[in-house]
Amino acid sequence: MEISANTQAIAYLVSAVLFIFALKGLTHPSSARRGNYYGMAGMVLAVLATLSGGEVQSYGFIIAGIVAGGFIGAVLASRVAMTDMPQLVAALHSFVGMAAVLVAIGTFINRAASDTLNAVLMGELSAGIVIGAITFTGSVVAFGKLQGLISGQPVRFTGQHTLNALIAIATVLLAVHFALTGAIWSLVLMTLLAFILGLTLIIPIGGADMPVIISMLNSYSGWAAAATGFTLGNNLLIIVGALVGFSGAILSFIMCKAMNRSIINVVFGGFGSESGGGESSAGAVAAEKGVKSAAVEDAIYWMEDANRVIIIPGYGMAVAQAQHALKEMMELLEARGVEMKFAIHPVAGRMPGHMNVLLAEADIPYENVLEMDEINSEFPSTDVALVVGANDVVNPAAKEDSSSPIYGMPIIEAGKARQVYFLKRSMRPGYSGVDNLLFYQDNTSLIFGDAKETIEKMVTALKGGGH
Ligand code: TAP
Repeated sequence: MEISANTQAIAYLVSAVLFIFALKGLTHPSSARRGNYYGMAGMVLAVLATLSGGEVQSYGFIIAGIVAGGFIGAVLASRVAMTDMPQLVAALHSFVGMAAVLVAIGTFINRAASDTLNAVLMGELSAGIVIGAITFTGSVVAFGKLQGLISGQPVRFTGQHTLNALIAIATVLLAVHFALTGAIWSLVLMTLLAFILGLTLIIPIGGADMPVIISMLNSYSGWAAAATGFTLGNNLLIIVGALVGFSGAILSFIMCKAMNRSIINVVFGGFGSESGGGESSAGAVAAEKGVKSAAVEDAIYWMEDANRVIIIPGYGMAVAQAQHALKEMMELLEARGVEMKFAIHPVAGRMPGHMNVLLAEADIPYENVLEMDEINSEFPSTDVALVVGANDVVNPAAKEDSSSPIYGMPIIEAGKARQVYFLKRSMRPGYSGVDNLLFYQDNTSLIFGDAKETIEKMVTALKGGGH
């Protein structure tokens, strides 16, 4: 059934509104599921409205594409582990980038055949190709780094920024030339240079900065889609592209702000290689540095009689997969009348929402999980702050040491609780490589070991009647 252009426009408008509701829903874990349903409904409506429109030439190719793409997507999505989500997202962005390039080239060939090219359209085509090509190779490199296919370390060489700037300028000049003349050679050269630029922009970026870059590439993929929307005269694609473009950019800024890094620093790269250090004889190193180590029983002693315990999860909780054990411990302590809460820093872990997703996976109720700003005032009246595999996000150096690389980053004020227990394996620092001043505070003790194993020991102790 073919629908009129007006009906299609109305359907697109409804889809656009549904996409906006989807984004709104995704701003909180409790409404995220609903947000996803809005997004799915918007997408189904958009696809149906497009397929019922007058411009479709042949359904054969479309159906073949949907079957092949749908099959690959379903297999990938069902297999991917939560920890591999960032590389899946990177792979998906690369498809958006390539689609933008191919649609723009296809449109050029069609319009050239019907002699309906003009400078405005060619400018839009150039934008689609350049942004799409950068998104494609950039995302492929990001995927390779995250998947461990290529080194996750920053790759740097002298003159790198100059080289990038020269390629960028040449690409823009070729785009302008192509828009004005329609010369095929400038189209080919521009496309090649944009592919190279995606590569050279992403290789200098270090492994742990990748989440910000994935979010930036997400933003680029949105702009590539918006440019495609202009080329095809499709308003919905323009709106959706802009929504993705802006939300990706805003997310990147939020992440950078929470890490106290400038976006320029991240995008032009070279930071964030994770630091090593010996894991052996953690207790001895700790003692040498004047840090107290404690046994599981000590923490249990304090927690059992506490009025309130706040757990601060971090990247180490994700590594240890300690969330289920934490849920069990939370229930055992709650049964003893202890108020249990979780404090989430905006950049705890290695990707936005990392901790929320893991805690939700373990069915920890949303009302027990609070954002940093909501919970910081509660620490002075808290008996125990249990820091589970977190480090940078509780480091007072961010407030006290103006020479520290993390100076200015807002922190979870765990140090204000009566007792602070860190669960970690060694004296190694976190992502920023900065020593944690909280380790040396009088009320702090470290319990060395894998977080999951330590929590399981706590659970056993609590079940056995504690100390
Ligand atoms: P980190 O500061 O990176 O500290 C993680 C701690 O977990 C380490 O000190 C590590 O110590 C410990 N750990 C690792 N495996 C463990 C295990 N199996 N059991 C127990 N402990 C374990 O983590 P954070 O506090 O979550 O801070 C996040 C950092 O990542 C911030 O600096 C942030 O800026 C950065 N970052 C975040 C994002 C996003 S979007 N979340 C993106 C990029 C960068 P041991 O090795 O001694 O065990």
